[in-house]
Amino acid sequence: MTRPRTPRPGAPEPAPAEDRSGAVPPWVVQRRELVGSTNDEAAALPAWHAVLAERQTGGRGRWQRPWVSDAGGLWLSAVVPTSPADARWAALPLAAGVVVAETLRQLGVPRLRLRWPNDLLVGDRKIAGLLVEQFRPGTAVVGVGINVRNRPESQDSALVGCVTRLAEWLDPVPSVETVTTALLERLQRTVGEMQAGGFEVLVERVNALWDAPRHVVLELDHGRVEGRFEAVDGRGRLRLRDADGTWRDFEPHQVRMLRERDVKTDSEVMDERPGCRPIS
Ligand code: BTN
Repeated sequence: MTRPRTPRPGAPEPAPAEDRSGAVPPWVVQRRELVGSTNDEAAALPAWHAVLAERQTGGRGRWQRPWVSDAGGLWLSAVVPTSPADARWAALPLAAGVVVAETLRQLGVPRLRLRWPNDLLVGDRKIAGLLVEQFRPGTAVVGVGINVRNRPESQDSALVGCVTRLAEWLDPVPSVETVTTALLERLQRTVGEMQAGGFEVLVERVNALWDAPRHVVLELDHGRVEGRFEAVDGRGRLRLRDADGTWRDFEPHQVRMLRERDVKTDSEVMDERPGCRPIS
């Protein structure tokens, strides 16, 4: 997530996180048939507003990678308050990953895990992804894509063998509405927890979802580093133990991509399955 910026003169003021009574307002969800990206649609909305689209033509992921958003999936962007304005919100992408993971587990998805920073996988196949962006001070947009009944691999053959969807794991398949409601409720609760206690209150929950330790390769802006990933720290930094046994900490923006190495063969998973586009 980008750092808060100084408001431009004339820019809309972010809405308060709470109303005058101190109560958190209910979500206001705008439903659209077709948009470019729900994150862009939500960019100017106040906190606790969300945009849910049936399809996106310009869905995007981290590092501007395209995100296939065909009909039958859940394409949602939810605006959350980032007050008090301090460093805790750098870990919002991790917290949002916990929200989606816990929601999908609660719905019964088996073998669900997080791949740093916030890819949701069943085994080695991606079922959901998140893109958290800050367009203006005081709020952030949490963009969530979940494959529900859609088949992204039918739109992009490079995804064959790399993706899965709720319909493969849940019978009956929950509706997009059901998943959205559960997700937004949990997101609101989790943002409240972060407002009260910072990311530290979530760190054990996120660290329980990595299926770690894992041998990984981090692609950095300049070079790459290999090591054992075990956990993130209370500030949300990735902790890597390198071959010398030295611990190194990485902020999310320092890492362009994380590749997992296969636990059995110790080769890079993406190299083993050439059809899979690297996704971090
Ligand atoms: C990733 O895995 O790289 C993140 C994918 C995030 C996709 C969602 S779909 C709803 C929202 N709108 C977007 O354009 N992206 C996010």
